[in-house]
Amino acid sequence: MKKITAIVCCIAIFTCSLAQTKSTEKIIYKDAKATIDQRIGDLLKRMTIEEKAGQLNQLNGGLFTGPAANDAGQKTKMQQVRDGKVGSFLNVLGAKETKAVQKIAVEESRLGIPILFGFDVIHGYRTIFPIPLAEACSWDLKQAEINSSIAAKEASSAGINWTFAPMCDITNDPRWGRIMEGIGEDPYYGSLLSAARVKGLQGNLNDVEHILACVKHFAAYGAVEAGREYNQVDVSRVQLWNKYLPPYKAAVDAGAATVMNSFNVFEGVPASGNKYLVTDILLNKWKFKGFVVSDWASFGEQINHGYAADRKDAALKAIQAGSMMDMESKVIIDYLPQLVKEGKISVAQVDKAVARILYYKFKLGLFDDPYKFSNEERESKTLFTEANRNEAKKAARSSIVLLKNNNNVLPLTSSSKKVALIGYYAKSKDDMFDFWIGNGTADNAITIYDGLKNKLGESAISYAQGYNADATTNEKLINDAVQSANNADVVLVNIGISGKMAGEDRALANPVIPEGQVQLLKALQKTGKPIVAIVTAGRPLILTQINDLVSSIAYCWILGTETGNAIADVVTGAYNPSAKTVVSFPYAVGQIPVYYNHFNTNRPTPTDDFGNWYSRYRDIPNDPLYPFGFGLSYTTYKYSDLRLSSNTISKTDKLNVKITVSNTGKVDGEEVVQLYIRDITASIVRPVKELKAFQKIFLKAGETKELSFTLTGKDLSFYDADGNIKLEAGAFRIFVGSNSRDVLEQNFTLK
Ligand code: NOJ
Repeated sequence: MKKITAIVCCIAIFTCSLAQTKSTEKIIYKDAKATIDQRIGDLLKRMTIEEKAGQLNQLNGGLFTGPAANDAGQKTKMQQVRDGKVGSFLNVLGAKETKAVQKIAVEESRLGIPILFGFDVIHGYRTIFPIPLAEACSWDLKQAEINSSIAAKEASSAGINWTFAPMCDITNDPRWGRIMEGIGEDPYYGSLLSAARVKGLQGNLNDVEHILACVKHFAAYGAVEAGREYNQVDVSRVQLWNKYLPPYKAAVDAGAATVMNSFNVFEGVPASGNKYLVTDILLNKWKFKGFVVSDWASFGEQINHGYAADRKDAALKAIQAGSMMDMESKVIIDYLPQLVKEGKISVAQVDKAVARILYYKFKLGLFDDPYKFSNEERESKTLFTEANRNEAKKAARSSIVLLKNNNNVLPLTSSSKKVALIGYYAKSKDDMFDFWIGNGTADNAITIYDGLKNKLGESAISYAQGYNADATTNEKLINDAVQSANNADVVLVNIGISGKMAGEDRALANPVIPEGQVQLLKALQKTGKPIVAIVTAGRPLILTQINDLVSSIAYCWILGTETGNAIADVVTGAYNPSAKTVVSFPYAVGQIPVYYNHFNTNRPTPTDDFGNWYSRYRDIPNDPLYPFGFGLSYTTYKYSDLRLSSNTISKTDKLNVKITVSNTGKVDGEEVVQLYIRDITASIVRPVKELKAFQKIFLKAGETKELSFTLTGKDLSFYDADGNIKLEAGAFRIFVGSNSRDVLEQNFTLK
């Protein structure tokens, strides 16, 4: 009996001391003083494989408060959060909603791991900025960074800590609806812009006003065949390295936290399951330290591609390729534990992926202050402020590309007192925006009509609808428009296509000015009044049919909240346009893809000889209607005196290029001075021109400046098919000018 009592006593003492150890044991992952690595290491040791799969699972969110919270689907999601089966939600918006979900994750799940909230903040959260393509035309990297930082500030105040931007896809195809979301057709400029956008969104990620960026769509999604959304891609490795990869790389080098797989195949393998793209290039060659997320359901859609046999195989292939988080296909949560148990995927492999996601949760401070982004007071003070709107207006003005301005019809002068404003879209808030307007609303946006009214006064404007919502017209609409025009000194016509036609799933086989608007312009032209086309669209439309019907064309894209005020500033001359297009405007649909940085071909068409057997069309010119880099101002610039520091340089030398630029007009202005090179002979043929530098300068009327550019071997090199950098001796040409067509040029030799 004594013996038993002694044993019981011993057990009691042992259990008690065990309990004591437990209660005094430091939970390292909860200790803010431990390093992130220590915390991750500790947490991984505590996680089950199911919980690890949960961190790799991102679900579409929805509403978690109010009546919607009783919905069966939402209840299931809440239970999944409690069970540790969700690492991230997308599309949960607002401080209140995000806090409600975060509370379940942190307070009711076993380990209390916080959730990442992702959302497409593409050109603003509540204050809407110009679409990324328009913003690109400003050639103002600082402004682009500011725009992104405001978007981040607004989104972060609404609980969002991760956005799926910037889109770094180079594209040459205006049929592709997503051209609006990108950087245009140039890899050099696209790289600088992508990096600026990442910096604006992320800052250094240690305050509450910045959010994780996501570089997308990796890779080469902008090369979708015929511009059709979700279509296949077939580009060579040489093109991949030289044309498509540089902007993603620049964004990764700028510190982007995440990268999104694209929907397309590369070399016949879906990007989500493509080891060459994800592991060989992104993780190994570029040493990307963040995490990779799928595009919506793209892990599972490997089955549709014909690459994965079933959902389990899709999960296996995605993980084997190096991809990590699964957006909405749910194949990881459903099959990863099983794949690990069967030995098909190692725990170490899973841990690597999970550690990267946990890293950003720690880095953002979510373990220590899980509700930091979900502060309703900050949210109400941060959204849609006067200061944010001012920046949106600055950004919008500098995105407007003046393509044509015969007889200086713009800016309006004191003799153009009576203005006819024509166009259904000029008054329609509903048509002003694309699909990606964050949590913005058209209600508080300034239409073109409102903007002009603010600037000129209502009595100066006579408005006519001109065409219907679907851009068709009829005799009555045309007659009314003609009558307005007859009573005016100048006619402003808002043509183009509805904003609703821009963005994902908005491919158009015919990106042209709608026939009804062409008819309208033909009738208006007969009035003999000067006509200004204000074109709004999320892509470069083919303008050939209307180009000769109008005196001026202001290409306004989709400009965001401040559209009307920005356009009013430009047409009245309060702001002198300085934007230059970053995409070529095709002459005809059959010319697509048309871009400035093409190859010379074996039979380049001489400009002065239209004989036979050249690479050319029989019915239209080879050149686009407006080339890359083109945009007018209300003043004129003269370029002269192109000088190189030497005619021959070695591979380690620097080449200095000087150019003199004068403002030869009557008003001050900003000019984007562009420098291109051509590698005339190379082991892999190079484009006829490649942008390598630019400067956006301000010149007072009559002022002259000498600009200087320095080129190094890096600027003269290119990639081979394996991604090795090649710098080859031989003849080069330098071009400097105001666009990719109108340039001064000079040759030099690299020894
Ligand atoms: C699909 C789009 O391709 C991608 O760009 C976007 O970020 C996701 N959906 C999430 O909305």
